[in-house]
Amino acid sequence: MRPSDRILYSEEEIRNRAKEIGKEISEDCRGHEIVLIGILRGAVMWMTDVMKEIDGDVEIDFMVCSSYGNEFSSSGNVRIEKDTKVDIKGKAVIIIEDIVDSGRTLKKLKEHLMLREPESIELCALLDKPSGRKVEIDVKYKGFVLKDDSFIVGYGLDAAQKYRQLPYITFMES
Ligand code: IMP
Ligand code: MG
Repeated sequence: MRPSDRILYSEEEIRNRAKEIGKEISEDCRGHEIVLIGILRGAVMWMTDVMKEIDGDVEIDFMVCSSYGNEFSSSGNVRIEKDTKVDIKGKAVIIIEDIVDSGRTLKKLKEHLMLREPESIELCALLDKPSGRKVEIDVKYKGFVLKDDSFIVGYGLDAAQKYRQLPYITFMES
């Protein structure tokens, strides 16, 4: 398996979506303190694109999660490896992910952070793969919605930790 030469989403398309979403977040969160929490490592490229487009008071931090599954799918067992120390109480928290597949990672993270009484928690993902959904979860800000269940890489997304650096999103093919 290797990344296809066929580009699914180009850097330009992704950055344009980041602009639109950054604008939406700025409007939705006007007058509130915003905390962006990026999920390492997949969210890095998308997070930097989105944060540059937000007009407002923004703090950023990162969390690390692991889920025991195989390389291509996550299991139900999501563990938090690195938590945030930012005081999120009363703030507008936005969790930034690379892709929402089963939804388990974001559901677990949201429940975990909710206990700290933020004013709100919304989810922002570069990609949504609704065909893989196992738990119900509302992703307010999504870059793109995938029509099928293909495994994709690039722009932060990996296959066995590789291809994260590709400046576009593509499929894996044999
Ligand atoms: P969820 O808990 O099933 O929603 O898992 C989401 C995580 O699974 C993402 O953060 C990715 O690490 C991984 N993942 C799911 N689908 C893909 C894909 O198509 N390409 C790369 N990683 C994926
Ligand atoms: Mg991954």
